[in-house]
Amino acid sequence: MGQKWTRRAIIFGISAGAANYLSRSEAQTGVVNLYSARHYDTDNILYENFRQRTGLRINLVEAKAEELIARIKAEGANSPADVIITVDAGNLYRAQQEGILRPVQSSVLERAIPSYLRDPQGHWFGLTKRARVIVYNKNKVSPAELSTYEDLANPKWRGRLISRTSNHVYNQSLMGSIIAAVGRDRAEEWARGIVANFARPPQGNDTAQIRDVAAGVADLTFVNHYYVARLIKSNKPEDRQVAEQVAVFFPNQRDRGTHVNISGAGVARNAPNLEGAIKFIEYLTSREAQDSLARANNEYPVVSGTAIDAVVRGFGAFKEDRLNAAEYARLNPEAVRIMDRAGWR
Ligand SMILES: [Fe+2]
Repeated sequence: MGQKWTRRAIIFGISAGAANYLSRSEAQTGVVNLYSARHYDTDNILYENFRQRTGLRINLVEAKAEELIARIKAEGANSPADVIITVDAGNLYRAQQEGILRPVQSSVLERAIPSYLRDPQGHWFGLTKRARVIVYNKNKVSPAELSTYEDLANPKWRGRLISRTSNHVYNQSLMGSIIAAVGRDRAEEWARGIVANFARPPQGNDTAQIRDVAAGVADLTFVNHYYVARLIKSNKPEDRQVAEQVAVFFPNQRDRGTHVNISGAGVARNAPNLEGAIKFIEYLTSREAQDSLARANNEYPVVSGTAIDAVVRGFGAFKEDRLNAAEYARLNPEAVRIMDRAGWR
């Protein structure tokens, strides 16, 4: 998700080393131990604002989602982790399945976050939204030719489509949403159609797909919307040139809506500071926190009424697929099997 790893240690006066050896006894009520796969410089300001409001200091441990999950599992009952933050409902669901999240009830969270963006049992809560959009080369494709994800399997796109691999959770979650929408059999047919339309074997990340569509390697792709916003806002002229060649299309506007995923947070199973953990996640749904969290990665806030970044707003308003994130996350293993069988590498 393009984390920036700089400056955190200086601002918080902790080092990765210190965090590594944080013991449960050090985890007092005045501290919330945040295990996060997300980091932007502006997040530090949020933590400081939270401290000023509540007196609770955020102690940050950063790693990728898989590493955080493995670490908390290894720490077991002695884990000092209070809150876990990561991107993609697929990762949050995996953390839940691994037994490292504790279901919590909070009327603040239930009021603030639409029900389809959080686990019905309260294991995790969406904090920001990302749409998986079609990105097309403006010189090769007219938006009038575009309609749905399903249509991307149409032979009219033969040799014109590219995507990243099926190993990535973004594509697995999208596939889960397709299974939920059209059923297993048609979903597998769809995956085969997508593979048949590939201009090249899957490779690279979402940004690489956009660059290659701009360069004419293929005519269209599907990516998380914020990668386009990032290119538009880049201070490198070559990035902005890439962005100028492409446009964003929100699929399935006439039926279920565009697939949206989340970044989100959950309370750790053995949180030493349970109350502080809930308080912190609740704070992340405040107006100021929502604004900051969403802007940092050009995402959509989950709390309605929060302002949306101008570039992101420029993509247009759209209808979201309101399938519960827990549903497409639950279908992840099925999604992986289907993409495997379809030869989507
Ligand atoms: Fe990302």
